[in-house]
Amino acid sequence: MLPEDIDLLIAKAREAMDSAIAPYSGFRVGASLRTDDGKIYTGCNIENPSLMLSFCAERVVLLKAITEGERAFGAMAIVSSDGSYCFPCGACRQMLFEFASDIPVYLAGDKGIKRFSVTELLPHAFERIGD
Ligand code: THU
Repeated sequence: MLPEDIDLLIAKAREAMDSAIAPYSGFRVGASLRTDDGKIYTGCNIENPSLMLSFCAERVVLLKAITEGERAFGAMAIVSSDGSYCFPCGACRQMLFEFASDIPVYLAGDKGIKRFSVTELLPHAFERIGD
């Protein structure tokens, strides 16, 4: 991916972070997902007073894109409101592995951009049985 495409993907994740609903943690997250043909979907974290019902930004964007029929992905970007690198939680890593196992994941923070493969984030992943 071109550097300007990565910058755009990160900018879209930042925009999406503005829509986050995070009154309980105060930690807003934005995620963006680029399809193979260059379309960008976005997601944010959405919390609920029953905390276990909260949604992470990464799974929100995966669900949005998959629901729209997308299956081929090129990259994901993740940002957080405190400028720290937001490493995806275990559940999001598992879902990334299931639907986008070969994409780079860009974490953008105050100290710059880090790039990880999904298998770096989730080695020895549980793999689904059958189709
Ligand atoms: N969160 C995400 O959206 N993505 C992550 O990778 C980690 C955590 C959200 C969940 C919750 O709304 C808040 O951040 C604090 O955990």
